[in-house]
Amino acid sequence: MTTTAFEWDDRYLVGLHDIDTAHREFTVLVDALLGAQDDALVPALDAFARHAEQHFGTEEQLMERYAFPARECHAEEHAKVLASVHEVRALAAEGDLQTARELAQALADWFPGHTDYLDSAIATWVVKKTSGGAPVVLRRMRATARAGAEPGAEPVRGSAAPQARAPAGAVQP
Ligand SMILES: [Fe+2]
Ligand SMILES: [Fe+2]
Repeated sequence: MTTTAFEWDDRYLVGLHDIDTAHREFTVLVDALLGAQDDALVPALDAFARHAEQHFGTEEQLMERYAFPARECHAEEHAKVLASVHEVRALAAEGDLQTARELAQALADWFPGHTDYLDSAIATWVVKKTSGGAPVVLRRMRATARAGAEPGAEPVRGSAAPQARAPAGAVQP
């Protein structure tokens, strides 16, 4: 059984509330899928499927509303993920739970790149359209990195490092 944890990390923040909220939920549901016992796997898959439809729908509505140029490419990637989820759900109903476990790991592997290259581009575009600026992202600093950078320094906990996310480059599927 796969038990790899998939945890939220502030590096996934894109600076747009609706997307960041959906992404936190994504990590919780994929983590649940990764750790699900056999009898909980299909319900976890159903919960993820409901989430994914809403999550992807939210992003697609934003792209449509703000006339994001590469929206078809992005929506196609969402559609492929949803198709895989529905296919795997059908297999799980026939008793193939291993494929669902493999899907859970594939989702965890897919998410960081999709967020970095595609979802962050939506945030950059929407903020530019609505306020003329770039998204501002507050990330918690890692205590170990701070302590390692300055020997003898006190670790900093619970502080935030404001960063303006750089405008996304070329949008790729
Ligand atoms: Fe997303
Ligand atoms: Fe997306």
